[in-house]
Amino acid sequence: MLDLLHTTKTHDESRQGEAVELAPTGKSDGRKLYIESYGCQMNFSDSEIVASILIDQGFETTKDYKEADVVFINTCSIRENAEQRVRNRLKEFEAAKNRKPGMIVGVLGCMAERLKSKFLEEEKLVDIVVGPDAYRDLPNLINKVEEGHKAVNVLLSREETYADISPVRLNSNGVTAFISIMRGCDNMCSFCVVPFTRGRERSRDAASIVKEAQDLFNAGYREVTLLGQNVDSYKYTPKVEEGQEPQPTINFAKLLEMVAQVSPDLRVRFSTSHPKDITDEVLYTMAKYENICKYIHLPVQSGNSRILKLMNRTYDREWYMERVDAIRRIIPECAISTDIITGFCTETEEEHADTLSMMDYVKYDFAYMFAYSERPGTLAAKRYEDDIPEEVKKRRLTEVVNKQLEHSLERIQQYVGKVQKVLIEGYSKRSDSDYCGRNDQNTMVVFPVDPRFKVGDYVNVLGESCTSATLIGRIVD
Ligand code: 5AD
Ligand code: SF4
Repeated sequence: MLDLLHTTKTHDESRQGEAVELAPTGKSDGRKLYIESYGCQMNFSDSEIVASILIDQGFETTKDYKEADVVFINTCSIRENAEQRVRNRLKEFEAAKNRKPGMIVGVLGCMAERLKSKFLEEEKLVDIVVGPDAYRDLPNLINKVEEGHKAVNVLLSREETYADISPVRLNSNGVTAFISIMRGCDNMCSFCVVPFTRGRERSRDAASIVKEAQDLFNAGYREVTLLGQNVDSYKYTPKVEEGQEPQPTINFAKLLEMVAQVSPDLRVRFSTSHPKDITDEVLYTMAKYENICKYIHLPVQSGNSRILKLMNRTYDREWYMERVDAIRRIIPECAISTDIITGFCTETEEEHADTLSMMDYVKYDFAYMFAYSERPGTLAAKRYEDDIPEEVKKRRLTEVVNKQLEHSLERIQQYVGKVQKVLIEGYSKRSDSDYCGRNDQNTMVVFPVDPRFKVGDYVNVLGESCTSATLIGRIVD
């Protein structure tokens, strides 16, 4: 897999192994929690909920797993190599557990859900297996282990959204944060394991989302990303209080507007959009509010209608192109990124060429590109043979990646010589004398520190040069 610049991705297994920082807590009982997250942004967001639940129980967090009483690994199942990474990491935890008897090791997230109690047989060091909808049960499961048992809870829920839990912001830059607006997925794309590991789709109470955005803004945050597997199908009907009139159902366009109205200084992003569901109403809402960022992640997966049908994506090539045309018409400056899978079952060279020509049509700003990896239990695994040889998948992937590198460079070059509004997110990875941040279109921008401005400020940056992933510039007045 190769990903070109990623910040608002929902399935980005290249982000891995981030440990939490010490979270302030007044009521610690001395027990230490270490939690490490893999995979999509939703997992990172869930880890913040898990930390919140356990800090309430007296835990404090640590960045060093070797000194932890409880070590959690929040896992991803989207492709086989994501699971392999987790298994390798567990081996490292085993050594620590041998040195510190009594250490509890728990597996959370999608792999836990997929493998259930089989995990306990396969990986002897694991004490707890918990699926994504069962995190409220963690204190109880930890107690069970302390009493000498192994503990599993992989029940999926139709209601759980953790709406009332205030996530503890982990590894935060204090400027940008993710807000989970829904859970699960009902789409059943044939290649995808997510509907099985994260359950049915459900939307979170809109008022709790707006409150979370407001609280973040009050705490100094300046950007929120609304997260869901398919944000366009967000739908929430407020509960009717006694004596009140029924309230209309809130769709994604309305929710976006409500969050945008928290403050014009709060940037709003979202991910992921589904081509079958993204409406003109959402596009017009984006165009109406300056603070809704002009960036859409619109996974295409394939440019060929027959393959899209096998993938159960429920749109075809023409439909996708029409949605792209609508974005260009309603929000001309909008950046578009995508996900592409090469070598899906039965894909011919001509069908692969359709993906390349779709890339030429859209000229994506960024893309996340993958060779097809068959996942046990999915519709594709049951129905179709994984018949494209690995080297063919890889060669097609290389062709897609090379094309994307050209397009990314071409897109980013348009900002050279122009002034961009950038939110300063922190210091550049390479040097403390540079700030980094993103423009509206989600392009990473790096520029020299100017003492008049601090992290969390908006600045105007003149683009002076670029690579295919980063714009380099300087602050102008
Ligand atoms: N093989 C390869 N890529 C996959 N994705 C999801 N499932 C698979 C799979 N089995 C990719 C899709 C999706 C992204 C999150 O991961 O492109 O949009
Ligand atoms: Fe998987 Fe498709 Fe749902 Fe995305 S929309 S999580 S690819 S089933």
